[in-house]
Amino acid sequence: MGQERLARRMARGAEFLGCDIAILGGAMSWISERHLVSAISNAGGFGVIACGAMSPELLDTEIAETKKRTDKPFGVNLITMHPQLFDLIEVCARHKVSHVVLAGGLPPAGGLDAIKASGAKVICFAPALALAKKLIRSGVDALVIEGMEAGGHIGPVSTSVLAQEMLPEIADQLPVFVAGGIGKGQLIAGYLEMGAAGVQLGTRFVCATECIAHPNFKKAFIRASARDAIASVQIDPRLPVIPVRALRNAEMEAFAAKQREVAQKLDDGKVDMGAAQLEIEHYWAGALRRAVIDGDVETGSVMAGQSVGMVKAEEPVADIIAALMAEAAEALETRAH
Ligand SMILES: Cc1cc2nc3c(=O)[nH]c(=O)nc-3n(C[C@H](O)[C@H](O)[C@H](O)COP(=O)(O)O)c2cc1C
Repeated sequence: MGQERLARRMARGAEFLGCDIAILGGAMSWISERHLVSAISNAGGFGVIACGAMSPELLDTEIAETKKRTDKPFGVNLITMHPQLFDLIEVCARHKVSHVVLAGGLPPAGGLDAIKASGAKVICFAPALALAKKLIRSGVDALVIEGMEAGGHIGPVSTSVLAQEMLPEIADQLPVFVAGGIGKGQLIAGYLEMGAAGVQLGTRFVCATECIAHPNFKKAFIRASARDAIASVQIDPRLPVIPVRALRNAEMEAFAAKQREVAQKLDDGKVDMGAAQLEIEHYWAGALRRAVIDGDVETGSVMAGQSVGMVKAEEPVADIIAALMAEAAEALETRAH
């Protein structure tokens, strides 16, 4: 009975995504590539390629390689400040990618139209209710609300507060997926009951067998508890640094020094604000690659959400999704009594 309830609660999200299970694999730079993305889609969920700083040529290859590994739908996550955003949209259109997720702020003029003209659905992140309403007016097809428990770049508000504030206001207007801090199916059941169409998880998928992250990166996840996943501190109020949640290590200290260095360059007039922000973003991209690919978990950035404490072992994607679904179904069954 719990399973039927769960299927019913997930039906809207699953239909929107074109898959069986309304769980998105949140795009993670360097991690969400052909192997993990196809594994999530093959297991019935919805994998999303993280384009990150990839060139259009690299994205083209990644999509083609993912298609070789799955005939199920998957999405592509594009960062709005990528200098070649429109070329990337063109690559997605050529491959008839069904869903494009836009991250990193409001899309530039014409961005939404370009994606929709290709027939793809657009999913955006909504960090606050006012922005969600604006995005709905501008024609997005679905929203992700992501709280500060999440791994990677984060906003200031927790998932539980965003869900309470936003779901009752917008969940009847379009599918809303909740992200940040989800490690168990019981919580998925809770957000579905509150009106979410589905959920998005990142941290929980990092230690999937199919994930290409370096063994050191996975080991750090398995060892860590929730309190090890800390948010970076903003050193200079002028620098619009978006906080990043990652495992505590030497790199977190180095980031403070990096901010001081960039702030000094601003003081000296050596860079403008745009260049300063870009320098910070490039710093993170390089640091994440060092940890994920090279396995340097001390001087690299081990981005992780607070749910990292619930990651206990390396296991196949299908097992992770099956466990989450069993927990969610059981919760819905128990709560019905
Ligand atoms: C290592 C790592 C890298 C990430 N990189 C990206 C990214 O490139 N683009 C993006 O939109 N979100 C990124 N995220 C956020 C995830 O897509 C997802 O929304 C988030 O992990 C959900 O919260 P959770 O970690 O608590 O499950 C990243 C998260 C992690 C842990």
